[in-house]
Amino acid sequence: MNSITTAIITRFLEAGLQVHPEVVVYLQQSGDVTLIDKIISNVPEKAPVALPCHIPGYSQDGFEPPRPRLKDSGSTDNLPPVKAERDGTRFTTPGDVDVVRGMGVEEKGGVDYTDFTYYFRNRYDKLSRFLRGRGDPMPISALTQTSRYQQQEVAVIGMVVELRNTAKGHRMAVIEDPTDKINVLFNNKRDVFEEAEKLIPDEVILVKGKLSSDGNLFFADTMHRPDIPLNNAPFKSETPGKAVLISDVHVGSDTFLEEEWERFSDWLYEFDARYLLIAGDVVDGIGIYPGQEKELTIKSIDGQYEAFGKMLKKLPKDIQIILSPGNHDAIRGSEPQPGLPERFSRHFSENVILVKNPAFVRLQGVGVLMYHGRSYDDLISMIPGASYTKPADMMVEMLKRRHLACTYGMRTPILAAKEDELVIDPIPEILHTGHVHICGAVNYRGVLCINTGTWQSQTSFQKQMNIQPTPARAVVVDLQTLEPKIYDFTGNIPVME
Ligand SMILES: [Fe+2]
Ligand SMILES: [Fe+2]
Repeated sequence: MNSITTAIITRFLEAGLQVHPEVVVYLQQSGDVTLIDKIISNVPEKAPVALPCHIPGYSQDGFEPPRPRLKDSGSTDNLPPVKAERDGTRFTTPGDVDVVRGMGVEEKGGVDYTDFTYYFRNRYDKLSRFLRGRGDPMPISALTQTSRYQQQEVAVIGMVVELRNTAKGHRMAVIEDPTDKINVLFNNKRDVFEEAEKLIPDEVILVKGKLSSDGNLFFADTMHRPDIPLNNAPFKSETPGKAVLISDVHVGSDTFLEEEWERFSDWLYEFDARYLLIAGDVVDGIGIYPGQEKELTIKSIDGQYEAFGKMLKKLPKDIQIILSPGNHDAIRGSEPQPGLPERFSRHFSENVILVKNPAFVRLQGVGVLMYHGRSYDDLISMIPGASYTKPADMMVEMLKRRHLACTYGMRTPILAAKEDELVIDPIPEILHTGHVHICGAVNYRGVLCINTGTWQSQTSFQKQMNIQPTPARAVVVDLQTLEPKIYDFTGNIPVME
C-alpha cells in the first residue's frame, strides 16, 4: 500500500470512520485533499463507513471512479443491435438476433502499462459487486492498519493473488483489494477447506472469519464466490424458435469429417432451425502446433477459409449464422478475440454475423454467451477433479466465478484492456463453449451449459492424451423451453441421443 493510500485511510480513521475502497481510489485520482473533509462532513452521524454516496456530486446511476484518458480501444459494444433481415421463405417472421456484447471485427490500439492496473481494478469492481450482498465487507486495510478488528468476526472481499499449502496441509491464500492485502488461512478441518482447494489465482471471493490477535492472519470460516444466484430464473422465448449450436469444425485438417458435415448440412434443410451458432475453431489453421502441416489437407489459411465459406454457402439461406473465432482461427489469440476479418469473411454467405470471442447474443430475447473455451486448458491444470472429459463441470466452475478465463498469465492469453469483457455479466440463459471436442450439457442454477463437440475425428494429439472426442454432434435448443437435444451425425441417419 502506498503512502498516499495510508494517509487517506488514516485521515478517515482519525475521524472515527472506515473508508470504502472506491472512495480511496476516487481521492487518489482526484488529487484533491480538501475533498476528504467534505466527504467526512457528508457521512451521517453514527454511520461507520465513508461510502461513494458521500462524495460531493455523487449520483447513484452515474458514479464511476475517474479514470485516466486511454486510447480508443476500438470497442464497439455500444453499437445498436443488429437485426437480422428476412432471407428465405420458410418463416413467417424474420430471425431476431441482438448482439449485446462482442459485435465487430476491428481492434485498434494496444495495451499500455496502465491498462493492467485498470483491467484488474475493473474486474474487482465488477465481481465484488456480486458479493456485497452476502456480508458486510470491510476494506482489507481496516484489518491491517488498525487494531480494532483483531479477534473480531469480519468479512472481506479480495482477489486471490497467491496460493499455497502449509506444512500442516491447510490452504493459505493471499487476497488483495484496492486498499491492501492479507493472508487467509483455510483450515483443513473445516467445511470451507473443500471449496478452498478449488481456489485459483485472480478469482474474487468474499471470506468471513476472524482476524488473529496480531492482525496478520485471517482465519476463514466461510467463503463465497460471485456465483449465479439461487433464484436465477431464465428468460424463455414467447415465440417458437430453435437454435443449433456447434463448434470446432477444423476445416483443412485431414481429420475433418466431410461426409458427416454434408449430412448435417442436408439435415438443416429438413429441420426448422432459425439460428446456427458456431463457437470457434472453424478452420484448423496454420502453425498452431508442431508438425501440424503434415496433418493438413489444405495448407493455406486463405484456402481453409475459402473452403469453409463454400460450406456455409451450402447451408439454408434463411438461417441466421452467428460465428465467433477460436484459438485455431487466424486472428489475434488474446481474449477477447476480434471477429474474423474481411480477408476471410468475404468468402462467407450474407447470413453470417461475425462476433468476437466471447460474445453475448440474444436470440428472441434468450441470452447466449458464446465462448470458445481456451481457459479449459488452465482450469484442468488447476482445479482438483477437473478433466477434458467433463467440460460441463468446468462451465459450472466458470459460472461460480462469474468469469470465463479467470487466471491471467497461463495458457489463455488475455488482453488487459480497460474493461474486463470476460466477466460473466449479464447472466446468460445459455453458455455455449467448444475447444475440448467433447459434447456435454448440464443445467446449473437455470443456466444451460453446452459444450458442442467437434467435426474432426481423433487427432494425433488426442491419441497421445487418450482423449476420445465426440465428433459430428449438433445441439439443438428450443428457445421456448430451453431444453437441449443432441443430434449425432456419425451414422447414415442423424439420430437424437
Ligand atoms: Fe478445436
Ligand atoms: Fe480450440
